[in-house]
Amino acid sequence: MSEATKQFYAGLLQRHGTSCRALSFSSVSTQHMRFSALLPVLPPALDAAFSLLDVGCGFADLYGFLLEAGYRNIDYTGIDIMPEFTDHAAARYPEATFVTGDFLRLGPQAGTYDFVLSSGALNLVNEQYPDHYDFVFAMVEQMYQTAAQGVAFNLLSAEGKRHFAHDERFFYCQAERVLEHCRRKAPATELDHGYLSYDFAIRSRWENPTAG
Ligand SMILES: C[S@@+](CC[C@H](N)C(=O)[O-])C[C@H]1O[C@@H](n2cnc3c(N)ncnc32)[C@H](O)[C@@H]1O
Repeated sequence: MSEATKQFYAGLLQRHGTSCRALSFSSVSTQHMRFSALLPVLPPALDAAFSLLDVGCGFADLYGFLLEAGYRNIDYTGIDIMPEFTDHAAARYPEATFVTGDFLRLGPQAGTYDFVLSSGALNLVNEQYPDHYDFVFAMVEQMYQTAAQGVAFNLLSAEGKRHFAHDERFFYCQAERVLEHCRRKAPATELDHGYLSYDFAIRSRWENPTAG
């Protein structure tokens, strides 16, 4: 588990309380734009029943967003390394399941979910991985192994780096490199680089439940 990541969010939580700023988002609207870009991987029917794992769930705002959108049969599980975040999320959504821990350490006993989604959890440099792509691809590998039908996640984009003052805690990825990696796992993977100039989403869906 990355101690730097825990300390980063503990500091934000102390400063901002349980607002989206504690999750390092500048506003609810950009947080929601990121969520919207993950949604096309899910079944379009709002009454569809499926299980969903939210990796790096924070306060489970993604679950609230999906409920607001009208989904009503989601068996939702959120995982986060921050106990303060999962405690708050569990109090908000007692019907959902929350796990406190590092997604990378879950292993196969984590079971399988129809969909695995992750928003904003892959952007902080992890001191255990000198090459940030190794961290991203380790998380991605675990997501594909844990999902039966589809995966969607987002990353800060190398092209968007100019929007921000230099902060060595954040990493900005080459979208094409991540897309190429994910297409080797699921050929129908798509890249969405159109919702924010500094962020992109990767979405993979497959028919064969054993693929990934
Ligand atoms: C930018 S916040 C986003 C929270 C939430 N996904 C949202 O969009 O509102 C990223 C979250 O990922 C969590 N996280 C980072 N690495 C993780 C890991 N390896 N396992 C579980 N959670 C992780 C952090 O603790 C943090 O709460």
